[in-house]
Amino acid sequence: MQTTWLLLLVISFSVGKTYGFSDLENFIRVIDSLNPNQTVVNYLNGSVFWKQPKSILQKLFNYEGYNINRKIRQSDGTFLSLSREFVVYRQPNTSEILLVLMNPISYNANEVFNVANDPVNAHIGSASPAMPVTPHLPEFLVYNTDIVLEYPNPLQPNNYANYSAGPVYDSVELFGFFSNSTLINASKTDSVPMTGTWMRKSQYLPWMVLGTTPVSLFYTTLAWKCYDGLQCVADDIMQIISDYMQIIKQNFPKYQYAPSTKRRGRLSKRL
Ligand SMILES: *[C@@H]1O[C@H](CO)[C@@H](O)[C@H](O)[C@H]1NC(C)=O
Ligand SMILES: *[C@@H]1O[C@H](CO)[C@@H](O)[C@H](O)[C@H]1NC(C)=O
Ligand SMILES: *[C@@H]1O[C@H](CO)[C@@H](O)[C@H](O)[C@H]1NC(C)=O
Ligand SMILES: *[C@@H]1O[C@H](CO)[C@@H](O)[C@H](O)[C@H]1NC(C)=O
Ligand SMILES: *[C@@H]1O[C@H](CO)[C@@H](O)[C@H](O)[C@H]1NC(C)=O
Ligand SMILES: *[C@@H]1O[C@H](CO)[C@@H](O)[C@H](O)[C@H]1NC(C)=O
Repeated sequence: MQTTWLLLLVISFSVGKTYGFSDLENFIRVIDSLNPNQTVVNYLNGSVFWKQPKSILQKLFNYEGYNINRKIRQSDGTFLSLSREFVVYRQPNTSEILLVLMNPISYNANEVFNVANDPVNAHIGSASPAMPVTPHLPEFLVYNTDIVLEYPNPLQPNNYANYSAGPVYDSVELFGFFSNSTLINASKTDSVPMTGTWMRKSQYLPWMVLGTTPVSLFYTTLAWKCYDGLQCVADDIMQIISDYMQIIKQNFPKYQYAPSTKRRGRLSKRL
């Protein structure tokens, strides 16, 4: 009798219910942290390509930066995500942060605007669909979050003809969050390591000033979770981004911290 009970206990532990996290809590542990006082930096690094109809993808930039965020549990068990983002465009061969783009489509020089999104808020009510990654079953789990953005463009063509790609803002953002399934089950930490991908397809950016020229942008990036705010970034990486840290510290000091309260913003995402 006692042996059976023990066996059942062992089985229930081995299927990973050890610490009783819900699917949503595990999702939050993977993408960020359950601790609202912990600021999590998700770093991203990759490429941006441009494409016109009937032509091939052509590399335009390297793309490097981060999202700094916190998750706050709501009384109904869902999570409020509060964050800011800062990303720069780099000349692909020299890695210099671009201030001016010699536009390969219009042949004009365009002033480059860094990505400085504040706030980027979201309400997360359920975990994204997750599946084990073959052939490493079940060590790795990947969560997919696909966001389709389609809404009236704040820059309408009748008012901003040179800057507006059209009456509808039209883009997709595709996230993959990979984490160690054994570790998710066997640990009780508020946050677990994550490596991921973020991809985006969109219209051209307003500062590219391309009017009605049909141009799509494709972003492919590798993303990963850092700890201890911005301190986690390795020395050699800090060296690579030191110019950009300079820009942030001088001009945008608040991008060193995640927001702690919700306020309205134009750039809110819904997961
Ligand atoms: C977060 O910080 C506040 C204020 O210091 C504290 O009251 C609260 O217990 C902390 N919460 C967690 C989960 O650490
Ligand atoms: C970058 O390097 C590639 C390969 O050497 C070259 O084809 C391209 O013209 C360079 N681009 C710029 C903007 O210098
Ligand atoms: C739009 O671009 C055209 C062609 O470059 C230019 O002549 C015109 O002044 C621009 N209009 C505005 C409002 O910037
Ligand atoms: C983790 O727990 C989940 C839910 O119980 C289970 O489906 C999964 O197989 C477990 N993963 C590992 C690697 O034990
Ligand atoms: C996953 O986590 C477990 C538990 O910490 C560890 O033993 C294992 O080596 C990890 N697997 C990988 C591929 O990192
Ligand atoms: C970002 O990507 C570029 C281009 O692949 C690479 O040279 C650089 O080392 C990467 N930076 C980090 C922090 O991974």
